[in-house]
Amino acid sequence: MKSAEDSEDKNRKVYVAVRPMDIDDLATVFHLGERLFTAKEVPNLYRTWDDFEVIDLFHSDSEFCLVAEADDRIVGFALGTTLTKSRSAWKYGHLFWLGVDPDHHGQGIASKLFHRFRDLMIAEGVRILLVDTEADNLPALHFFRKMGFGNPQEHIYLSLNLDPQLRQLRERKATSRYRLHDEE
Ligand SMILES: CC(C)(COP(=O)(O)OP(=O)(O)OC[C@H]1O[C@@H](n2cnc3c(N)ncnc32)[C@H](O)[C@@H]1OP(=O)(O)O)[C@@H](O)C(=O)NCCC(=O)NCCS
Repeated sequence: MKSAEDSEDKNRKVYVAVRPMDIDDLATVFHLGERLFTAKEVPNLYRTWDDFEVIDLFHSDSEFCLVAEADDRIVGFALGTTLTKSRSAWKYGHLFWLGVDPDHHGQGIASKLFHRFRDLMIAEGVRILLVDTEADNLPALHFFRKMGFGNPQEHIYLSLNLDPQLRQLRERKATSRYRLHDEE
């Protein structure tokens, strides 16, 4: 159980600075994300939190990677990109990952990160910002609604287990290999 001191500590107003992410932040951001985006039973193939994800985004879109710092510690991050779609003159922004250290939730840190990210997008000429999250991630849904997002569109992931076919194929390959040996 949390003590009154703990929750007082959590509600303590800390000075939070948002700044561009730099190369020395990669490991810290990755490990913070590991705590926030835990692997689900059914992995979402669209995107997974791993070291490549952070490195790739930093490599391709470092100007859209931000961190929030409090007491010289990274306590949050926002990683995104911009994109244009064929047959659309509009430029889109996509906020891929937004995360705040659970010890600092409810202190306005995600809001700060988001507002800085949104300003970067506006400066880039982005007209529509996109975000996505699991349907049961209520804190994120509340957060995005509060930031002005709306018009949610459902998208359902299905999965097909190809294990039996894979096993059959391997067995067939193994049998034909034995046959070749026998004929030699
Ligand atoms: C979603 C998340 C980024 C919010 O971070 P945060 O710093 O706690 O958010 P803020 O303090 O800026 O909250 C701003 C507003 O969002 C809403 N909100 C945030 N967390 C909420 C929660 N747990 N329940 C309900 N509303 C919430 C509130 O309206 C809040 O305004 P208020 O404090 O005036 O009520 C944080 O919970 C998180 O890191 N979650 C795990 C990672 C994740 O799911 N990321 C989003 C998908 S990539």
